[in-house]
Amino acid sequence: MKRIAIIGILILGLAAAGYYWVQSGTGEMADEPSTISGSMVEVTVPELTGAALIGEQIFNAKCAACHGENAAGVEGAGPPLVHIIYEPSHHGDMAFMLAPRRGVQAHHWRFGNMAPVEGLTDGDIKQIITYVRTLQRANGIN
Ligand code: HEC
Repeated sequence: MKRIAIIGILILGLAAAGYYWVQSGTGEMADEPSTISGSMVEVTVPELTGAALIGEQIFNAKCAACHGENAAGVEGAGPPLVHIIYEPSHHGDMAFMLAPRRGVQAHHWRFGNMAPVEGLTDGDIKQIITYVRTLQRANGIN
């Protein structure tokens, strides 16, 4: 009986240590001055107006957790969309329409698959596309 109690206390101790470790890990990330976490590329942000400006807000709500603020990517979460891989001739607007609808099988990166994103109308996605293309053009990706 006593032995079981000791083992129990050990397990609880380990769980507490693990919890503390995870918490302090995320704490470190929050201390970083940079936005969501490590951006993967430098992005020049142009002045945004109209659909691009609305698209930015939708992007920040639905996509930036993985693709990063200013679509600059997030280390460990998702790729930058301001990247030559996603230039219009390689990933046309249709690829951007389909990605949130159907999700994406990982094929260019090692982040894993992208799950479908719920709650977006076609109009929302078109505004996201206008936003991403505007960022791309400002960074020499045409
Ligand atoms: C949970 C993380 C996550 C979220 C949220 C997310 N994505 Fe992705 N997305 C990924 C990953 C990871 C890939 C890269 C897959 C690969 O390896 O090619 C990707 C790839 C893409 C691609 C490339 C598709 C292709 O055909 O190769 C597009 C376009 C895209 N995402 C758009 C979006 C948009 C728009 C949103 C918001 C509506 C969004 N993503 C939200 C993780 C995410």
